[in-house]
Amino acid sequence: MAEVSSETRFLHAIEMGLGAWQWGDRLVWQYGQGYSGKEVHDAFKLSVEEGIRFIDTAESYGNGLSERLLGNFIKETDQPVLVATKYFPFPWRFLRTSVTRALKNSLERIGVESVDLYQIHWPSPLMSIDRMMDGMAECVKSEMTRTVGVSNFNQTQMLAAYSALARQNIPLASNQVHYSLLNRKVEKNGLLARCRELGVRLIAYSPLEKGLLSGKYNADSRPPGTRAGIYANILPKIEPLIKLMTTIGQDHGGKTNSQVALNWTICKGALPIPGAKNIKQAQENAGALGWRLTEEEVAKLDEVSDQILDR
Ligand SMILES: NC(=O)c1ccc[n+]([C@@H]2O[C@H](COP(=O)([O-])OP(=O)(O)OC[C@H]3O[C@@H](n4cnc5c(N)ncnc54)[C@H](OP(=O)(O)O)[C@@H]3O)[C@@H](O)[C@H]2O)c1
Repeated sequence: MAEVSSETRFLHAIEMGLGAWQWGDRLVWQYGQGYSGKEVHDAFKLSVEEGIRFIDTAESYGNGLSERLLGNFIKETDQPVLVATKYFPFPWRFLRTSVTRALKNSLERIGVESVDLYQIHWPSPLMSIDRMMDGMAECVKSEMTRTVGVSNFNQTQMLAAYSALARQNIPLASNQVHYSLLNRKVEKNGLLARCRELGVRLIAYSPLEKGLLSGKYNADSRPPGTRAGIYANILPKIEPLIKLMTTIGQDHGGKTNSQVALNWTICKGALPIPGAKNIKQAQENAGALGWRLTEEEVAKLDEVSDQILDR
């Protein structure tokens, strides 16, 4: 592994974070139905008490509501909280100054002077990576963010971002990508290894595969909303993996499927940021810390997940 730069080292010391897409999102997560501000506040408080202090939000989550809620929650805690947010390259925002202006707006919504990580949410055909990184560099120089990262960037795009920032002596802190026992593309295509080589922290989003890895959904009991369609093909196949996770969890004194799923991503060298809708989910997910799967267990989980993903 390359030596991690001193500015971004803190990210490598974080084992797990908390995702805040659920805070305000109605389209995928049905915010307002069965859970709302109180429940996510409880999830936040519990996570912070359990030592999970890295929160991942975005300007687009709940159209800014996620950032606003985070700002309110931060004000009510005396614990230090590390904030990561994101720039969305909408087609009408493609200038260097679009990035700095968007971060200013995020800071206002969160009510802080700077964040710890500012990320480009998705690459865009309308905005070059060089221009994006010029904007990100400006955000670091003006001290609106401590570090910068990308999200959903493939290896080529990540290397371009890395080099563009390096020209300004700024390290690329992270690449936030989809990574779970049911989505191992970044492991198979070399992105995870490349991140390790460059000292870039790989942040794993959807580490519970949007709830599937908890074991509560199957072909007969489908998740609500858009997830039912997205996962229609995979749901009938996941039973062997869920069974194995349950057995492995039992061997660790009764760890749950979600805890096994999150621990697996940590064992792989990633930083998972599971979303939680309420205190119960946050509590359970916090139990992914403080213990480790064995190498043999990771290998067995890999084998069974491969069988599902290859079918
Ligand atoms: N950069 C990007 O493009 C991108 C994309 C996606 C996500 N993200 C980030 O990554 C975070 C996590 O990803 P995600 O929200 O997509 O998926 P996830 O963390 O894999 O799944 C979260 C969902 O799983 C269910 N769940 C959570 N904990 C559970 C538990 N202990 N037991 C049972 N069910 C549980 C909840 O939904 P139900 O209760 O409704 O099942 C929850 O909303 C997001 O919040 C966001 O910050 C980033």
